[in-house]
Amino acid sequence: MSHALKGKTVVITGASSGIGRATALEFARRGANLVIGARRGELLEEVARRCQQLGVSCTAVVTDVSKRVECKRLIDRAGNVDVLVNNAGFATYDSVAQARPEDLEAMMQTNFFGAVWCTQAALPGMLARGEGTVVNVASITGLMGYARMGGYCATKFAMIGLTEALRDEVIGRGMRVAMVCPATTDTEFFVKAERGKMPAASRLILSMKPERVARAICDSAEDGRYRRILPFTAALFIRLKEMFPRFAHVLMRRVSRVLEKT
Ligand SMILES: NC(=O)c1ccc[n+]([C@@H]2O[C@H](COP(=O)([O-])OP(=O)(O)OC[C@H]3O[C@@H](n4cnc5c(N)ncnc54)[C@H](OP(=O)(O)O)[C@@H]3O)[C@@H](O)[C@H]2O)c1
Repeated sequence: MSHALKGKTVVITGASSGIGRATALEFARRGANLVIGARRGELLEEVARRCQQLGVSCTAVVTDVSKRVECKRLIDRAGNVDVLVNNAGFATYDSVAQARPEDLEAMMQTNFFGAVWCTQAALPGMLARGEGTVVNVASITGLMGYARMGGYCATKFAMIGLTEALRDEVIGRGMRVAMVCPATTDTEFFVKAERGKMPAASRLILSMKPERVARAICDSAEDGRYRRILPFTAALFIRLKEMFPRFAHVLMRRVSRVLEKT
């Protein structure tokens, strides 16, 4: 195993469950010290204890990333941040016609602005030291729009736009910017998002385990690879979409229509 992360300081948002929790444990296994944030303090403390048992330091900081001051406080607690993982996020799936304005706003505040506020808080230190890595947990829904997920897709498209721009701003200044774009992952996410509201073709994709996404996030923090899409079948479909966008959308609509009738 590589020792690139040993002794580094890593901040992870949304570490109380799912991908963020698995990512904290994977970083701990690779020897990184952690500062983790989320709103549910008890769950967060439990994750911190498990990380400490792996021999690293881990501080839990109750944080609501939709609030800029709380993001600043989380980053300040970490001191020099070597790696920032912007992972906190949620979805409420609905058609554009039926989506509640408050749900659309809340998703943007957490998924997009949460990442903006944490990044803005960490950047000055990273730029001054000429090192640091930002890993944004985006999604395949940030690379292709899916029916009944428009509000959520918008937050991830926004995050990917920010990631692309940030990379061009800091490249050559010692910093690295990366994104991990997972497809369906087996977490609490779907309790709120309602898998049943996804297009049927998307529901067909088998869920990955959060540990698999966690490894990809840690690998990106180690090697700085700009974009990881997983699993491989999702990466293939996104490649198809990028080359033939109209065809990919027609395919998605047709397959969904057929499946929804059966
Ligand atoms: N599951 C999937 O299929 C999938 C696919 C692609 C991308 N993703 C992305 O992966 C990330 C993690 O999701 P997950 O699947 O692991 O879902 P999850 O198990 O529901 O975890 C979401 C995490 O985000 C935190 N969070 C939510 N709102 C927050 C807020 N306002 N402030 C701070 N933390 C907040 C939650 O903690 P608290 O509730 O304790 O605050 C929790 O730790 C999200 O950005 C999601 O969009 C998920």
